[in-house]
Amino acid sequence: MAMKLSEFPSAWLEEIIHLTNERFVIVNRNGEILYLSQKYCEFLNTTLEAAVGKPVSEVIENSRMQIVAKTGKEEISDIQEINGSVMVASRYPLFVNGELVGALGTVVFPTPDNLREYINKIQLLVTELNYYRTKDGHRAKGKVTFANLVGESPLFLESKKLAEKVSNSDSSILITGESGTGKELFAHAIHNRSLRANFPFVPINCAAIPEELFESELFGYYEGAFTGAKRGGKKGFFEIANHGTIFLDEIGDLPFSMQSKLLRVLQEGEIQPVGAQKRIPIDVRIIAATNKDLSEMVKNSSFRQDLYYRLNVIHIEIPPLRKRKEDIQLIANHLLRKLEKIFYRKGVTFSEEVVKVLKNHTWPGNVRELENVLERAINVLDGNRIEVVHLPLYLRDVISKENREIIVDEQFIEPLKETIAKSEKQAIIKALKVAKGNKLEAAKLLGISKTTFYDKYKMYFS
Ligand SMILES: Nc1ncnc2c1ncn2[C@@H]1O[C@H](COP(=O)(O)OP(=O)(O)O)[C@@H](O)[C@H]1O
Ligand SMILES: [Mg+2]
Repeated sequence: MAMKLSEFPSAWLEEIIHLTNERFVIVNRNGEILYLSQKYCEFLNTTLEAAVGKPVSEVIENSRMQIVAKTGKEEISDIQEINGSVMVASRYPLFVNGELVGALGTVVFPTPDNLREYINKIQLLVTELNYYRTKDGHRAKGKVTFANLVGESPLFLESKKLAEKVSNSDSSILITGESGTGKELFAHAIHNRSLRANFPFVPINCAAIPEELFESELFGYYEGAFTGAKRGGKKGFFEIANHGTIFLDEIGDLPFSMQSKLLRVLQEGEIQPVGAQKRIPIDVRIIAATNKDLSEMVKNSSFRQDLYYRLNVIHIEIPPLRKRKEDIQLIANHLLRKLEKIFYRKGVTFSEEVVKVLKNHTWPGNVRELENVLERAINVLDGNRIEVVHLPLYLRDVISKENREIIVDEQFIEPLKETIAKSEKQAIIKALKVAKGNKLEAAKLLGISKTTFYDKYKMYFS
């Protein structure tokens, strides 16, 4: 007869646990030790009495049990160093009646077998890492030119032509457009087409620089300007970009106090590094970009009007992808060729259905979103054709809704005979209702003979 574990005398259970070779620990939700197996006690040079009730991190080096007891997420075969030995640790959340009550942890010395497994795992990671390194390298390389700006819709071509035309001027440019429309790409192309192309193009994300670092980052500082200042000082972005182009990205996020400092530099063409006595003349071309409505911000006083005018000498607006649907397939193909090179693939195509989905989506994240969708697709692709299943769920939903509508439509288009039969049936029911069940009366109401009525009645209702 089978016995439930709970029916074993506790002395038995204890002996069974003692006999298992595994070292293990049980903690409660707070990560306090409830139990430590005999062998684990010996290994840690402690006793059960001393360990119980203590936070596990105090008893076991590098323990993560307190985390697993909180998150409920198991961690299998982790490498953990304890008392100078490399151990393989597994941590399992303990759920009782669906409630997370704590966690069970086990450690074993690695055997030659699982050591080999680890070496394989690590090798895989190293290969992946190298791959991503070269991938990023690929991305950074290559000069962006106007030929890289794909699109043939009139709206897009208008912006592109304007950008080409003003490349050689030194006037400030303000590029506006939703996120992912290619503002940075445009700025790059403009710089590379200009006479400044052999000098640096320095992109600065105005949203990402902390306010207190803004001056030293942009204008640099001299040695000893403040405590912690680097020996020899540091060149600011403006000096680095000298004779080149500065790209002020997310300019709409520049704090108000910084706006005046920037304006002064633009007006005077000089910078004064923090702690410097002299001003340094600077020759840079400014291209700013934002997805915010700066004129609106000027109106509600969150952006300086004088700076706005300085930046907005030439305005280039890049239309969102949904306003140039004819460019979607073109750009998708271009991005696919680009991704093929990065992922060492060749001859990847889109299924017709996928093209339809891509064209119908509104692309709130614009070209960047499209790029992400395609990168994901190429990652999960087995063959050479991107199908709907390779698209992220939120895009697949669009198509399945569409399909559902088609199916509903198909149900509506049925053989004419069926449609006629249904409406005859409906008419008979109606007539009978009005005639209060009198069939002769109903036949009269319908304008048919008694026999025809009976024939039809029999056909539909028996
Ligand atoms: N017209 C385009 N043709 C090809 N690639 C584009 C185009 N517009 C944008 N991209 C690509 O889309 C991504 C987002 O562009 P980015 O310039 O960073 O957008 P933004 O600065 O407007 O957010 C980049 O990888 C860029 O290369
Ligand atoms: Mg950007």
